[in-house]
Amino acid sequence: MAKAGIHRIRLKGTAMGTTAKTPSASKSHAKEKSAIDLLKADHKKVTELFSEYEQTHAMGKKKELAAEICSALTVHAQVEEEMYDAKVKVLSEYVKHHVKEEESEMFPKIKQSSLDLVELGARMAERFENLRVARH
Ligand SMILES: [Fe+2]
Repeated sequence: MAKAGIHRIRLKGTAMGTTAKTPSASKSHAKEKSAIDLLKADHKKVTELFSEYEQTHAMGKKKELAAEICSALTVHAQVEEEMYDAKVKVLSEYVKHHVKEEESEMFPKIKQSSLDLVELGARMAERFENLRVARH
């Protein structure tokens, strides 16, 4: 299975670039920042704003910094929120791993157990139905 972790995803151009892709030759992208680099730099910037705020006593400056912190956090959260490609890729890797493990390790054990799988299936089907209805 190909490893397509979030660290491989590069956002081209602006931070809001939506065309996430895996670079074929990472050296040719040396000047581009990876998504992780961008987010880490932004975390650092916000952390610095917080310490600057804590060290400031002038009310005017504090107010200015507070507004800057709120704006930076809002923008940061929105960028993370809009990284659909990265989120789906991470979830996909996670789910594939879960499916493989469950089907190859857990299911054979369940089949060999004394569990009544038809009865369990009926209860499970009802539970699926109830939870799905509850989500709509
Ligand atoms: Fe973050």
